[in-house]
Parts: sequence; structure tokens; C-alpha cells
Amino acid sequence: MADYVLAIDQGTTSSRAIVFDKSGSIISTGQLEHEQIFPRAGWVEHDPEEIWTNVREVIGIALSRANLTRHDIAAVGITNQRETAVVWDKTTGKPVYNAIVWQDTRTQKIVDELAADGGVERFKDKVGLPLATYFSGTKVKWILDNVDGAREKAEAGDLLFGNTDSWVVWNLTGGTDGGVHITDVTNASRTMFMDLETLSWDQGILDVFGVPASMLPQIKSSSEEYGTVHSSQLLRETPVAGILGDQQAATFGQAAFEKGGAKNTYGTGNFLIVNTGEEIVHSKNGLLTTVCYKLGDAKPVYALEGSIAVTGSLIQWLRDNLGLIKTAPEVEELARTVEDNGGVYVVPAFSGLFAPYWRGDARGAIVGLTRYVNKGHIARAALEATAFQTREVLDAANADAGVDMEDLRVDGGMVANDALMQFQADILGIPVVRPKVVETTALGAAYAAGLAVGFWQSTDDVTANWAEDKRWEPQMDAAERDRQMRLWKKAVTKTFDWVD
Ligand code: G3P
Repeated sequence: MADYVLAIDQGTTSSRAIVFDKSGSIISTGQLEHEQIFPRAGWVEHDPEEIWTNVREVIGIALSRANLTRHDIAAVGITNQRETAVVWDKTTGKPVYNAIVWQDTRTQKIVDELAADGGVERFKDKVGLPLATYFSGTKVKWILDNVDGAREKAEAGDLLFGNTDSWVVWNLTGGTDGGVHITDVTNASRTMFMDLETLSWDQGILDVFGVPASMLPQIKSSSEEYGTVHSSQLLRETPVAGILGDQQAATFGQAAFEKGGAKNTYGTGNFLIVNTGEEIVHSKNGLLTTVCYKLGDAKPVYALEGSIAVTGSLIQWLRDNLGLIKTAPEVEELARTVEDNGGVYVVPAFSGLFAPYWRGDARGAIVGLTRYVNKGHIARAALEATAFQTREVLDAANADAGVDMEDLRVDGGMVANDALMQFQADILGIPVVRPKVVETTALGAAYAAGLAVGFWQSTDDVTANWAEDKRWEPQMDAAERDRQMRLWKKAVTKTFDWVD
């Protein structure tokens, strides 16, 4: 059998292809960023065709960097930014509109209209999610309501919808020439349309949204052979055998298979996931209920999730919109030029506030400004915002579980930032643990695909491959930690009620 598995990670800012070997080590990587399109305040779009072109290219880059051909690849796994909605014409293969990204808030009016009957928790028992702009459901409705001719075409059965996993898999397996239109349970659980118990689309909710069922992908498990790569592609005939939404993939890559196992990923946003086993747990503290994974015919495993919309993207904003730094890693250097935050708190409610607040009416704020404050303080406060927000979702997870987590497994780009990880441990009051392979998202998708084709035998292989790299112990005293959290929470309240 071939010696490697290739994972495609179609993320918010870039698409990557990573080749892994049996030990879960990275052999090679290809990565390309795509344009972030901001047509208006609160709107965020991607060009699905650019994404597909990039996916094809990064596969080529990853293969050629390691001198590999399709014969070396046992299977392909897909992981993706979740909730980002693509609607395309199945006859032409062309999107009818740009992808509406998970961070986009244009559908607040739709949310309000739907919530007028039954409140934002109207469908929560069934789908695990409150009504919010975050999820794909209102985005599809917006496209059908606003793009000329889209509703008629959808009703005639000519349009297809999916998160970016569906878009990539459909194209990879042939597009208009027989591409499979599927998604996995984890992605489906982010739409607002899937019943968590039955793992099927809920016709009643679809009727309320006015979305024809014919547009929706078929829901599959996270690990099985869905089809093979089309003959026109570099990886032709390779089985496509795993799909996991990126946060669930990271949970998988972190080997958090036990009930209570958890991870926190530091990406564009931060996402804390706690495995709840075969039980569907409904949060009383602002967390989402979601599918963690489902391996083939085995029972699904569920999770609670604390989703934070803006963490890494705040650093990008300092770089791109304010010009405070030239590269994202420079933020650590700038933050180190000052001893503390100088009393400044940055609350990045760019997309409203997600967990645990779910306030669509919130907008970002920088508070505590005095003449003393300099750019070092702003940089520091921006980094600290990530840690404070994480503490809030961890508190919610502990409250839901009734037990306190003993340490936190972390991954994602920002875990390379030592100052942030130390501050994170300080603010949480528990150790923060980083594994050797921090690309857990792609790794998780590789595992899901590799398990389906027998490249790995069971999740025990995944657990055996996991290894600790570094651990940060909390050093801050409890009184200071409490003071910081009190000020942070006060700052958060300043962002409420901002949208007219
Ligand atoms: O829910 C959004 C999440 O899936 C996006 O993750 O890492 O692409 O920012 P990321």
C-alpha cells in the first residue's frame, strides 16, 4: 500500500495540502492564501472558484515538494472552514454568488425575523445551535432571496449548496462530470438544518427557511470511501475517504476520543471542543452542541463547542487595517516592548460576539485608553483578548460538565507564540499543553481518511502517535487573575447594543 495520506485543509484564509506518513509526521505542505472580500461593513466573502483553483495547486505543490505521485497516496481527507456557504449551478458548475463566509453578519435581519416566532433558541433542541448569522442556514436563504433567479433555479432542482467541503469534494470527484454531492455529519451539524438525533435534514426547518431539500448534499459519516478523484486530476483514482469540519478534525488530530477530552484551536477564531461521547448534551452556558465525528457505521460522537469568532484575525487586522505590524508574528515582539496592557482591553466583536454571549448587536471596542497608551499596549491587549475569550468559553464548558478541566490541549498557528501561551495558562489557572504536531486540523482529516482505507487500523494508532511537545504552567496569582477577568468582562459589556 502507498506510504502516505494527503489532507486538504480548506481554511478561512488559505487552502493547504499536507502529506502525512504513518507516524502522523508532516512530509510536505503546499499552501496558498485566497482573497478576503469585504464588500460592505460586516460582509465577508470568498470566491469559490479561486478556492478550487488553489486547492488543485496546493495538491500539486505538496506532491512535488516531496517528489511523490498519486501512487504514493493511499487516500485523501478533507477538512474545511465550516458554515461558509457555497451555492452553485449543477449544470454549469459555476457558483451563483460568492461564498458567504462564517464571519459574515449580513443575515442578522433574517435571524431576527426567524427568532420573532420562538426566540433564538427556536431550533436549538433539535440542531444544537441558536439562530445566529454564524451558521450556513441563513446564508443560503439570503442567496435564494437576493440573487436574481436563484430561488426559481433552486426550486427547479438546478442548484446545489454546501459548505466548502462539499464544494471541494464535488469538484475533486468530477464536478459536472459525475461529482458526488455530499457532506459529513460534522459539517451538516453547522447548517441549522440537521437533526442531531437522526443525522438527517429536518424538512420542517427547511420549510421555515424556504430552502429546497434538493439543494442539500447527502449526509455521510466522517470516515468512509465517498468516491475517487476524477480522471482529470493529479490524484486520479485515489479514494476520497474522510471529511471533518476543521474544529472537529483538530479534536480528532489531538486524539481527544474520550468523553471529556478537549482541545482549543487558535486560528482565525478560537474553537474549544469538548467530547461528550455518545450523549447529546445541551449547554446551559452558551455553548453549541455539535457532532464531533462519526466513523463509518459506528455511532456518532457528540461535542460541546465554545466558538470565538475573532482571535488570530484580530492580529491580521492590526497588520492589514492599522499597519501596526508588518507580519503577524511581529505582534509578540511589539507586545513585549511593554510590561503590561497599560489598562487597555480590546474586545474584537467584529462579527458580533459568539460564545458564550451570542450578541449579534455587539461591535468591537478598545477601552481603557489614556494618553499613556502606546502601540505596544494595543498589541498586548489584542493578544490578551484571545486568552480572555478562551477563559470565558472554558468556564462555560466547566459549568456545563460540572467538573473543572485539568489542563488544555492547544493547537493552531498562534500556539507558536510563547508569551500568549504563558498568559493563557496564567488566565486559565491550568496548564496549557502543545503537541509535537500542531497541524492537528489537517492531521485529523488525514486520520479520518486513512482509517477508512485501512492505512491506520483504529483510533488507538492515533492516540499512540500523539506526543507532548511543551507545557506552560500558570504563574499568575489568583487575585491578579480575578482582577484581569473582572476588567475584561466589564470591557465586553461596552460592546453591547451597538448596532442600530
Ligand atoms: O467555524 C469556523 C471555523 O471552522 C473556521 O476555522 O481555522 O478556518 O478559521 P478557521
